[in-house]
Amino acid sequence: MIAKDVPSLPMGDSPDLILVPATPAERIASIRLNSIVWKGPLDVETYIARENHLLEQRLTRDGLTCWILVDRNEPEDDRTILSSCESYRKKALLAHDGQVEEVGTHGVGSVYCRPEFRGKGYAKRMLEELSTKIDTWKMEKEPRGRALFTILFSDIGKKFYAQFGWRPYLSSHLALPPAEGVTHGAGEKTRDLYAEDVRSNMCNDIILAKLRDQLRVASQKSTGAKVAIVPNFDHFVWHWAREEFFAQRLCSHRPPPMIKGAGNDDARVYCAWNRNFGEQPEDNILYILRWVYDDPTTPEEEQTLVQAMAGILKRAQQEAHDWNMHTVEFWNPTPLLQKAVALLDPDAQLVHREKSSISSLRWTGAELGLGKDVEWFLNEKYTWC
Ligand SMILES: CC(C)(COP(=O)(O)OP(=O)(O)OC[C@H]1O[C@@H](n2cnc3c(N)ncnc32)[C@H](O)[C@@H]1OP(=O)(O)O)[C@@H](O)C(=O)NCCC(=O)NCCS
Repeated sequence: MIAKDVPSLPMGDSPDLILVPATPAERIASIRLNSIVWKGPLDVETYIARENHLLEQRLTRDGLTCWILVDRNEPEDDRTILSSCESYRKKALLAHDGQVEEVGTHGVGSVYCRPEFRGKGYAKRMLEELSTKIDTWKMEKEPRGRALFTILFSDIGKKFYAQFGWRPYLSSHLALPPAEGVTHGAGEKTRDLYAEDVRSNMCNDIILAKLRDQLRVASQKSTGAKVAIVPNFDHFVWHWAREEFFAQRLCSHRPPPMIKGAGNDDARVYCAWNRNFGEQPEDNILYILRWVYDDPTTPEEEQTLVQAMAGILKRAQQEAHDWNMHTVEFWNPTPLLQKAVALLDPDAQLVHREKSSISSLRWTGAELGLGKDVEWFLNEKYTWC
């Protein structure tokens, strides 16, 4: 596993290079290598422990693959890791021509090349190879035997991944500062959500059926496929496993973060969140992972809903304050959520990100006659891995 001298390294277009799933020891070696950029406030061993803890979660334990670009002539477990990344198998919904089906997909993450190997085309080669492998990887049980799309979140802008087919999608967010001493106005009925409340209010069969219906109707109204990552409870549990791991190590003096979101039963609006603990104060963000509500049918209903959303956001600001978070943030807010934010902070601006967390989707459904365009529904933070 020890790196060879840089001059003896192959170029990225060498026929000797191959992309393979890492062995367990190689996976740990690649985590150790990328720790310099992603360990945040953890030491290397604790960072490895976190990655292992996340691997054990239901969302990822059967579907995670660590990929490494290596020289095919080197022996397993003794190969120089030229570049690495991970893929996570996930469930998704696909709608086209009024039909909705459950399909498999992958999220790609942790794309990495160690500093001394950069600029030789290793990441490029890895992604070229990955883009030919990933559609059929772990897709044996799919009716078509392949995924029709895969996603990733680029932290290096919109161009690099686009050359391999991962096109940038809407990547906007709204942010609110933490706020102290939140008091509920008369008639405001915001309540805290614990993990089980998120499950019962945001991940139940009715919510999933509504999503299927929304996709079906949308696919009847306009051409082009519609897709969504299934917002199942496993996603939230994975994000909470991450925050709880950090909280246990960085805030051991206080009880773990139990409040996982907020909701209003009268207006039937709910959100789930998690706390991100970073190295810099501005990396500490309370992310709203997902919102659930029904579209209002009258102006009165809309007013009630927007006010309930504002109440929930205030609760999130209080929680951000209690956990020393820098901001409350949520992705791709709908017009109604933008109205709710405007009630709290008329100066809040919708930010369109150009560099970090660029939602990107690679669509290959055109090859199967499903059209060249695809719309991504529920492009929210819960999909990030
Ligand atoms: C991004 C990274 C994987 C590239 O690895 P690499 O092997 O040097 O990449 P390649 O040699 O194959 O390709 C270099 C290309 O990457 C692009 N690139 C590298 N770092 C970049 C950055 N920070 N922002 C934008 N583009 C970047 C360059 O545009 C370059 O393109 P060019 O060939 O047209 O000049 C590597 O710099 C890295 O590990 N960075 C730290 C971790 C990271 O940010 N990963 C991406 C997470 S989404």
